[in-house]
Amino acid sequence: MNKTVADLIEERFGLPSRVGHDKPAEGTMAQLLSHRTHRRYKPDPVPDDVLEIALAAALSAPSKSDLQQVAIVLVKDRGKQATIGGFIPDMPWIATAPVFMVFCGDNRRMRRVAELRGRPFPNDTLDMFMNAAVDAGLVLQAFITAAAALGLGCCPISVVRNHVEKLAELLELPPAVFPVAGLCVGYPAQTGWSSMRLPPALTVHTDRYDDRDLPAQLEAYDRRREARHATPRDKQRYVDRYGYTEPYGWSEDKARQYSVPERHNFGPFVRRHGFGLA
Ligand SMILES: Cc1cc2nc3c(=O)[nH]c(=O)nc-3n(C[C@H](O)[C@H](O)[C@H](O)COP(=O)(O)O)c2cc1C
Repeated sequence: MNKTVADLIEERFGLPSRVGHDKPAEGTMAQLLSHRTHRRYKPDPVPDDVLEIALAAALSAPSKSDLQQVAIVLVKDRGKQATIGGFIPDMPWIATAPVFMVFCGDNRRMRRVAELRGRPFPNDTLDMFMNAAVDAGLVLQAFITAAAALGLGCCPISVVRNHVEKLAELLELPPAVFPVAGLCVGYPAQTGWSSMRLPPALTVHTDRYDDRDLPAQLEAYDRRREARHATPRDKQRYVDRYGYTEPYGWSEDKARQYSVPERHNFGPFVRRHGFGLA
């Protein structure tokens, strides 16, 4: 038999799968299980029609209360794309991607709808902000899935939020419209690799939240992950501060990543940019 769903589950988690041995790896299930982020693209342009289909599929994502609080900015101006790429030189795929776009949460539209209908809008809340962020995230994921079905590869870019002031000015994002992530899109130049996920034992809970087994599960995950894709020594973070750790692992990498303040500019930006977050 060709590849099964069980094979793909085992690849995803690096663990034996109890399920899926009788199911061929095909269709939506295979596509979701085979997801990978692509950062290298062929130079081939993405035809407008293909992009339009992917956008239509993406905009079919569910939306909180049918509010549809998403705005997508297609960055067609290569100069603007280069400017955004210039903010983040260590991610050259931003400037070189055949297509670059920015997925935004959009609460402005609802505020305008209220105004146009002559109704009050006493809902400048954190919940409203989150609704818009979640809607944008769902559309982003739907776009990635649709793009994969069309032979395209994508890389979301949250690092654009490190430069949110400059980005908002460049793309003329008005108050109550905020970037959730950029997205690079193109025909993949490589097949890419399946990034191993935390075990469902840590991410799926039954009837109540329970993380008593975190230390042991993490240790095992770190070792499984390193056995498949060892982090090269030169990719260890902040060695000036922490030196080299052997073995390194996901938990050490993430602990190091967030041992320094990251993106403290974003909260103040959001508050200045039209959100009360009550
Ligand atoms: C919201 C979001 C933001 C991301 N931001 C970046 C980014 O700024 N730069 C980047 O290279 N990858 C970014 N990624 C890609 C992640 O690094 C990637 O999804 C993760 O390592 C898991 O790999 P996989 O998607 O291939 O399974 C982002 C992914 C998401 C979902």
